[in-house]
Amino acid sequence: MKTMLSGIKPTGRLTLGNYIGAIREFVKYQDEYEMFIFIANQHALTVPIEAAELRKNTKDLIALYLAAGLDPEKTTIFLQSDVPAHAQLGWIMTCLSGYGELQRMTQFKDKMAKQETGITAGLYTYPSLMAADILLYDPDYVPVGIDQKQHVELTRNLAERFNKRYSDTFKIPEPLVTKVGAKIYDLQNPTKKMSKSESSPKGCIELLDNPAQARNKIKSAITDSLGIIQYDPENQPGLANLITILSALTGESIESIVDRYQGKGYGELKKETGDVVFDFLTDLQKRYKEILDSKIVDKVLEEGAKKANAVANKKVAKVYRKVGLKI
Ligand code: AMP
Ligand code: TRP
Repeated sequence: MKTMLSGIKPTGRLTLGNYIGAIREFVKYQDEYEMFIFIANQHALTVPIEAAELRKNTKDLIALYLAAGLDPEKTTIFLQSDVPAHAQLGWIMTCLSGYGELQRMTQFKDKMAKQETGITAGLYTYPSLMAADILLYDPDYVPVGIDQKQHVELTRNLAERFNKRYSDTFKIPEPLVTKVGAKIYDLQNPTKKMSKSESSPKGCIELLDNPAQARNKIKSAITDSLGIIQYDPENQPGLANLITILSALTGESIESIVDRYQGKGYGELKKETGDVVFDFLTDLQKRYKEILDSKIVDKVLEEGAKKANAVANKKVAKVYRKVGLKI
């Protein structure tokens, strides 16, 4: 069985875009791969964040992933900070990374170019920590958003560098970039990605939104004045977005939805999509509350940390021997 690993930064609240583009994919993958999913909480410290907020985000994130169908029997779910090997290998990777190499990472470069204030050294070196996150587990695939692909490429370079300088130690991982078509757009501005940080509240549905309010957001989504129901993301992006959401949440194909709506109006499609979103959120939030009340999160993390530590500590011991830290 091939191995897959991904990390999620607990910095914001999850959206319908995160669910359709990422969480739902993880839930599918867990039947086909040996999966490691961790909360990258040490990465969250690269920008200032209140402790209470970090704690709440982390709990919510895990409860939502479990509510969405991630199964701790199949997937190892853990906190990065519960596995000290991440920080340990992170330092080795930092020392293997070039100063200029890290300066070329677009995320960091963009922030520097914008002359943002409060840029930390952690924001500069975090791609090296991310490389460690990955290489500890020898995954075949790393599913990431497009903005993170460059960091997986850096990871490949660092792994090759280490293997060449010492001896074969790390598997070279492949990035797996979210497929097109699974991208969900802002309901008010359907050429922009639905995003917690950039969308207006009306354009973005959060997984913990009140379901009735979420239904209203669908009803007031921007469409177009053509009045024909067809799947044409280029000329009718708002409509295509609604069809994508409906298809993703029901499993019905896009063609079948378009067929069903021949001769009908946008109002009807919005009503059905709104109702589907309402039911989806109601269901998800019910499970989310049950999970939070049951204290299962603590147990999942404890088990996950045990399994992850076993794998990661072995790798660090090997690395410490090879580089000469262990005498
Ligand atoms: P982010 O919240 O941007 O850090 O992204 C976390 C994961 O969710 C990545 O795999 C993204 O590709 C995915 N994701 C975020 N927003 C969307 C969206 N609007 N549509 C589809 N996938 C998304
Ligand atoms: N840096 C990633 C992000 O900002 C999160 C992350 C940390 C990650 N470590 C990882 C993703 C390892 C994949 C693999 O979204």
